Amino acid sequence: MSTKEKLIESVVKDVPVESRSKVTVVGVGMVGMASAMSVLLQGLCDELALVDVMEDKLKGEAMDLQHGSLFLKTHKIVADKDYSVTANSKVVVVTAGARQQEGESRLNLVQRNVNIFKFIIPNIVKYSPNCILMVVSNPVDILTYVAWKLSGFPRHRVIGSGTNLDSARFRHLMGEKLHLHPSSCHGWIVGEHGDSSVPVWSGVNVAGVSLQSLNPNIGTESDSEKWKDVHKKVVDGAYEVIKLKGYTSWAIGMSVANLVETIVKNMRRVHPVSTLVKGMYGIKDEVFLSVPCVLGNSGLTDVVHMTLKSDEEQQLVKSAETLWSVQKDLTM
Ligand SMILES: NC(=O)c1ccc[n+]([C@@H]2O[C@H](COP(=O)([O-])OP(=O)(O)OC[C@H]3O[C@@H](n4cnc5c(N)ncnc54)[C@H](O)[C@@H]3O)[C@@H](O)[C@H]2O)c1
Repeated sequence: MSTKEKLIESVVKDVPVESRSKVTVVGVGMVGMASAMSVLLQGLCDELALVDVMEDKLKGEAMDLQHGSLFLKTHKIVADKDYSVTANSKVVVVTAGARQQEGESRLNLVQRNVNIFKFIIPNIVKYSPNCILMVVSNPVDILTYVAWKLSGFPRHRVIGSGTNLDSARFRHLMGEKLHLHPSSCHGWIVGEHGDSSVPVWSGVNVAGVSLQSLNPNIGTESDSEKWKDVHKKVVDGAYEVIKLKGYTSWAIGMSVANLVETIVKNMRRVHPVSTLVKGMYGIKDEVFLSVPCVLGNSGLTDVVHMTLKSDEEQQLVKSAETLWSVQKDLTM
């Protein structure tokens, strides 16, 4: 009799049950691991799968996380370069790809990352045909379109993390300016993630009190309080962090976990995420941009109509045209 047999008497044979909230993270770089950690620390999944092409790094990251199992509520952490480990995922977060170099625009990254997606996406679809695909790799709006095309999934199951992070940055900076917690500072950044994102000043409020009603010039050049700089800091923020530490990771990781939580817990929270916006705000092309969306177990179920000013709408149309001018030349 083994020690185990002497210690434990079996009552009934354990029947393996299928995971109910499996999350896969593809790409175990800075963003992938920050996302995985945030998901794990919040206990959002019963199984976590990691995939990367760098086998040693992948194995090392998985072992390092497994060694912390005592402190986690996710009982199974698996990793392999073979996508069979991802089978039956509820949510697949794609963070794989080259990252921006110092000063490099997100758009420059595009074809490099499309080529990577041509391998990744069909493999995800093969093993998790019913999953919700969440794209984080940049340029996120274009790559979400690419993932949608390559996957053949319906639009409600392909989401880009989009301006969920930009809006979080905005609310943090707004909180600093007003000396309030970001959760009490409401403001939405929509459109393209990054340089051309659009702050919707008409909606910025605290406790339902519109800041625009108190300061009609908010967000404009003639505003003596320079609220416009808050949005500028959102745009410049990523570049600044990259300059200082080489990459961004913690905030995007937390932002990913925030989206995963809404999906796996079927919370129906509204998030600014990237979705197919053809037909909205006069946009004619098949592009993905962030607008407020309802997320839940089935994916992205609804879009909230935001009342935008004509210049805000024009900016979305302009972003859409820029994205399409890049997308139409991509080889997929
Ligand atoms: N959407 C956002 O808000 C946001 C924020 C920050 C970073 N990002 C983007 O996230 C991506 C990842 O950034 P990072 O800092 O983690 O980069 P990183 O270089 O640290 O990690 C990328 C990982 O992808 C892996 N990879 C490359 N090709 C792969 C493939 N075919 N299959 C599986 N894995 C593969 C690499 O081996 C590496 O481990 C970048 O595109 C970056 O621009 C997005």
